[in-house]
Order: sequence, then structure tokens, then C-alpha cells
Amino acid sequence: MEDLAKKHILLGLSGGVACYKSAELCRLMMKAGATVQVVMTEAASRFITPVTLQALSQRPVYLSQWDERAANGMAHINLGREADACLVAPASADFIAKLAQGRADDLLSLLCLARPSQRVPLLVAPAMNREMWAHPATRRNVAQLLADGATVLDVGRGEQACGETGDGRMLEPAEIVQDLVAAFQPKVLAGHHVLVTAGPTYEAMDPVRGITNLSSGKMGFAIARAASEAGAEVTLVAGPVGQPTPRGVARIDVRSARDMLAAVQASQDRATVFIACAAVADWRVAQPGSQKIKKDGSGLPPPLEFVENPDILATVAASGRARRGELFCVGFAAESHDLLTHAQAKRVRKGVPLLVGNIGPDTFGQDDNALLLVDAVGVTEVPRAPKLVLARGLMTEIARRLAAKGPAP
Ligand code: C5P
Repeated sequence: MEDLAKKHILLGLSGGVACYKSAELCRLMMKAGATVQVVMTEAASRFITPVTLQALSQRPVYLSQWDERAANGMAHINLGREADACLVAPASADFIAKLAQGRADDLLSLLCLARPSQRVPLLVAPAMNREMWAHPATRRNVAQLLADGATVLDVGRGEQACGETGDGRMLEPAEIVQDLVAAFQPKVLAGHHVLVTAGPTYEAMDPVRGITNLSSGKMGFAIARAASEAGAEVTLVAGPVGQPTPRGVARIDVRSARDMLAAVQASQDRATVFIACAAVADWRVAQPGSQKIKKDGSGLPPPLEFVENPDILATVAASGRARRGELFCVGFAAESHDLLTHAQAKRVRKGVPLLVGNIGPDTFGQDDNALLLVDAVGVTEVPRAPKLVLARGLMTEIARRLAAKGPAP
């Protein structure tokens, strides 16, 4: 997906071993559709050559404020104004200190200071030794950058180039790209807490076998990501799926429908939006075997009895907070036919203000989907698109309905 299409990113590198990751970062941003202009400090060019970044970005790299390519002699003005965002990765402790003080003695710090800060956001991806990261001076400088409106990305934890272990590694390139993409999304759910269920459930028959379904979890994970990008705090209760956790999302892994209900109930008091996207098994085995059920030679299947699982969505929608309008509930319906009729009936049956219909066989495991939004007013068809695009659109729809109700509690 070209998440950075039409975006021009100024990628600044300051000195640090993490510069080797910036080559991959540049490549990933280009792959996501961005154009990238690289600016390096003198220290950065000791860790990786400008030629590498020129080849990857397909543009000559800028190294000095005295660069003669700028006809007006003002590279620091031009570069900052043509960018949609400035991303400094890696941002060394020294470079962060410089930004915090507003010093401008090289091209990169100069253009960060000179950029039109209301229009061109500044993101910094710190990278340094754990002691430097924990030092009160760095803490002060980071706090100052935040107060000045910059976005300071997280740091990774683990083995450092110096041989020590701790906080301060630069995030992985794919993580930085996710954070950059998120920075461009409108914060329509800021102040909200979105609780999402995703994936299938697994109902054990015995310790080795069970009943599950083909839900990949992709739609629910896309919703969790889109909610986080939209500025919400997000809790994702996920059935057994192998999807990576979206950045900034708190994930709770569960197996059965009853585990999922318990996890949802533990979080629902803090949530302001509940989106039930999971394909919950309707039935579970009443008495799962404590040992593997063996064939007994009779040729007959084992006598399994089933009981109905709790309906998580209907339970939450019937709670006091949902009924008082403090928790906005959204359900999903995966149907094979007569989508509109079934979706309308399901919305009423589950007692939710918004129900999202989709055709099950057309969505399971796919990267794209088409939706039908059904509420008390009417029906909106959302044409086929990647699940993340649909999820972002759904966040806008939910935010519009929440705004009509008043501010977040
Ligand atoms: O009844 P049906 O399974 O078709 O309803 C689908 C909607 O209800 C989805 O939002 C799904 O996540 C939710 N659901 C639930 N708990 C169940 C069954 C469905 O939350 N036991």
C-alpha cells in the first residue's frame, strides 16, 4: 500500500551506528510512495556514505549549508519548505540537544529550525547508548522538544552497538515508517479509548484439537491500527492469529470465546468505543476431554455435546455504559448472501448503533474488502479497498457519530 504517496520527506541523519538502518528506512519510505531528500551531518557521513543514500533516494544528498546547488544560496530554507515532514533518524543525543536549544550550526539543525513548523512536522527517532538516553540532560532535552511540538518517537530496547543492553536503540525502519504514516492521519479519535476484538476464537475439544474458523484477523488489526493512528488509546483483544501488533496498540491474546469475553469485560469500563470484529465461535464443546480423544475402533464419532458461547457484542451493548451512550458499540456481520437484510436485522438484534456488513467468503484472509455501514438512519456502501483504507474510513464515520453526541467523556 502506498501510504506515503505524494509525500515529500526530508530524511536527516545525525551521527550514530544506527545510520546503517537509515538506508533501509529510506528504501521503505520510497516503497511506500514518498519522495525522499536526504540531509546528513558531517558525523553521519562517517558512519554511512552519502553515495549509498543518494543511490537509494535517487537524489543527491545535502551535507552543508554552503552547498552551491541552491541558486539562492539558501538550502536550509528551500529544503524545509518543500518537505511535508522532517524526520531525523537517527537523532543522536548531541543532535537532540542542539534541537532543544535551537542551535543551527550545520545544515540539518539549521533547516529544522527554519522549517515552517505549523505546516512541516518534525519527527525524531533517537538512537544512543542507554546511559545517554537515561541521562537527565537528555530527558530535559526530549521534554523540551515535545514542548516545542516535535514528535519524539520511542526507542527500542535490547543489545546496543557498544555491547551493553538497554533502552536507546533506534526503532526498526518498518516501525519508523508506521509512525510517520500515523503522523499524517487526522487525530479524529484523540481522547478516546477504542476496544477491538479481532480474529477467530479456538474452542478446545481436547488438549490437542479444537474448533476454529478461517478469520485471519486482518480487518480487526487494521481497525486497531487505524484507531491508534487516529489518536485513540487502543486495546486489541485478539484470538489466535499471527498478525503483527500495530504500533502503540495494547494487545491481549486469548483463545476461547469465554476468554475473549473476560478480557473485553476487564477493559470495557475504560473504553469509549467498542468494535467487535472477531469471528467468535457460536458453540463450544460442553466437556472438552482432559486427554486426547482416541478412536475406539467402533467407527463411530465421539459423542460431543455443544453449548452456546456468550455473545460478547450483545453483552457489552446491553451494559449500563453502552445504554447510557458512554460506550459506542460497533458490530460486524459476515454473511454469504442478502447482506443488507441480515445486517439490518443483526444491528437491531445486537442492540448496536452501527453495524458493518461484509461478505464472509470475499473477506476472509484477503487484504481488501468492501463494507456496508448500517445505522438507524440508513445504509452507506463503501467500495472495495485495502482493509487499512476501509478501517481509516470507519474511524472517520465513528468519529462523526461521536461528535454528534458531544465530546469524549
Ligand atoms: O451473530 P453473529 O456471529 O453473526 O454476529 C457477528 C457480530 O457479533 C460480530 O461483531 C462479532 O464480533 C460479534 N459476536 C460476538 N460474540 C459472539 C458472536 C458474535 O461478539 N459470540
